Amino acid sequence: MKKTVVITGASRGLGLELAKKFITAGDTVFGISRTRKYWAAARLFEPSRKFRLMQCDVASENAVVSLVRKIKRTAPRVDILINNAGYCGRLMRVEETSVRDLTKHYRQNLVSAFLMCKYFIPIMKTVARPLIVNISSMAGTRAVPRLFPYSAVKFGVLALSQAIAKENDGNLKCVTVCPGGMNTKMRADLFGREDSDRQQEAGFVAEVTNRVIRGEIEVLSGGHIVIRHGKITGIYPPPAA
Ligand SMILES: NC(=O)c1ccc[n+]([C@@H]2O[C@H](COP(=O)([O-])OP(=O)(O)OC[C@H]3O[C@@H](n4cnc5c(N)ncnc54)[C@H](OP(=O)(O)O)[C@@H]3O)[C@@H](O)[C@H]2O)c1
Repeated sequence: MKKTVVITGASRGLGLELAKKFITAGDTVFGISRTRKYWAAARLFEPSRKFRLMQCDVASENAVVSLVRKIKRTAPRVDILINNAGYCGRLMRVEETSVRDLTKHYRQNLVSAFLMCKYFIPIMKTVARPLIVNISSMAGTRAVPRLFPYSAVKFGVLALSQAIAKENDGNLKCVTVCPGGMNTKMRADLFGREDSDRQQEAGFVAEVTNRVIRGEIEVLSGGHIVIRHGKITGIYPPPAA
């Protein structure tokens, strides 16, 4: 059966690559982004209105509440939620980090995913086999120097997934995807274009994530998968032998 999918951060990078997978499969995608800046490129993948781009700052509670209302008016169901929108500021040592830096990372990576889960879970519980995928990072499994605020909140994303999995006891599956560096604007802004060009393709991470969603790669509810250098480098807890 065709699915309805909500993807945050879908105007470029990994979010757009994920959206393309679902559109190709004939599913309906609500693609969310904070601004309309990259919509012209994203709209190339909008055949037969299967890809509906919507503007919403998912770090704002009021904006998320209004988004949920709008989606409920047009879609009878939401089967899959992918919390992919994220933010990574500049490189800085712990002693250079301000409370403001930490708070911005917290709002843009963890509060945003939390708000989307908080307001979409009640809707999603009405469908058979609902699924939430939270995008964390390898930096959310072990801290990266000079990226403490980003690492800390991406650890938090794993906690969010584990809590949701435990609270819903199999009635709603929630998994985390932890990519290593990807060739996207986020990486280029942080480490420069040359470095970004050496990273794995976001399309590869989208392909693996799609296989997890379709059940071809088993990741248990509350578990996470690490995808680094174009390979799956770990699934936790490991699938039964
Ligand atoms: N790139 C990497 O090397 C890497 C590695 C590991 C994990 N990740 C994670 O993978 C995910 C995708 O990363 P990416 O590299 O594809 O990022 P990206 O190229 O920077 O794209 C980010 C997307 O998120 C949207 N977004 C950001 N804040 C938002 C907000 N508050 N509300 C709604 N949309 C928002 C952006 O929309 P606007 O353009 O309108 O702001 C854009 O569509 C992120 O969670 C990131 O932390 C990335």
